[in-house]
Amino acid sequence: MIKKVTVKTIQKYKDNKEKFSVLTAYDYSTAKYLDEAGIDIILIGDSLAMVALGYETTHCVGTEEMSIFTKAVAKGAQRAMVVTDMPFLSYHTDIPSAVKNCGEMIKLGANAVKIEGFSDYILNVIRRLTETGIPVMGHLGFTPQFLNTLGGYKIQGKTKEAAEEILRQAKELEKAGVFSVVLEMVPQDSAKYITENLTVPTISCGAGKYCDAQVLVSDDVFGKYSDFKPKFARKYGDMKSLIFTCAKQFNDDVKTGKFPSDDEIF
Ligand code: KIV
Repeated sequence: MIKKVTVKTIQKYKDNKEKFSVLTAYDYSTAKYLDEAGIDIILIGDSLAMVALGYETTHCVGTEEMSIFTKAVAKGAQRAMVVTDMPFLSYHTDIPSAVKNCGEMIKLGANAVKIEGFSDYILNVIRRLTETGIPVMGHLGFTPQFLNTLGGYKIQGKTKEAAEEILRQAKELEKAGVFSVVLEMVPQDSAKYITENLTVPTISCGAGKYCDAQVLVSDDVFGKYSDFKPKFARKYGDMKSLIFTCAKQFNDDVKTGKFPSDDEIF
C-alpha cells in the first residue's frame, strides 16, 4: 500500500535533515506524473492564474477556480501531500468564511492549505484552521498577493534587521500552528538563519539551498511557460518546443492527408 506523505512525514524530514521536494500542478495527469516521480508535496499554486489562465497577476483567481484544479490534482496524487494555495480574498475578510473556503478544499481532496502573509488576523486564521483540522502552510518573504503593497517583485529580508523580522513572523506562524513556511525571494544567508531557528521546515522559493525543501512552478521546470522566467527557477525540459513540434506536425499531417492512417480509423 502507498504511504501518503503527511504533516508528520514533513516534520520527520526536517528532524532527520532530509530535503523534500514541492512542485505545483493544476491538472490530473501532471499530478499523477509528479506523484510517480516521487515529489513529496504537490501544490495547486495560485500561480495558475498566470501560467494556466494567462492573467497578469495571481489576484485574478477565486475559490471556485481553485476548487476545480484542487479536485483534478487530488485525483492524481496518491502518495504526495496535496496543498491548495488559498486565493486572494478567500481568507481575508473574516474567520468563518476563511474556515469555510479552506474547508471546501479539504472536502475536495486537499490535505492542507497555504496562506500568505503575517498579521494578528492571519495568526487567528491559522489558529482557527488548525483547530478545525486543516493543516496550514505559511508563506513569508515576497508574497505575491501583496504585490501592490510591496511595490513589485522585490527581494525581501536583505538586511540583518529584515531577516530578524521574517524570523519573528515565522516563529509566530509556527506558534499559531503552521506545519511549514514558504520563504519566497529571500537571500540565501537570511533564509539559512531563519531555517536554523525554526522547528517547522522552511520551503525555498528562490531562498537558496539551506532551506529544508525547494518549491518551483512546474511550468517553469518543464519549460512550458515562457512569458517570464524567475532568476531562481531552473528549466529541466523544453515542453514549449515539444508542444510546438507536435502541433506543427499534426497540422501538416492533417493538411497533407497523412492523418489519419489506416491504423487510426474504424
Ligand atoms: O502560487 C504558487 O505557485 C506558489 C509557489 C511557487 C510557492 O505560491
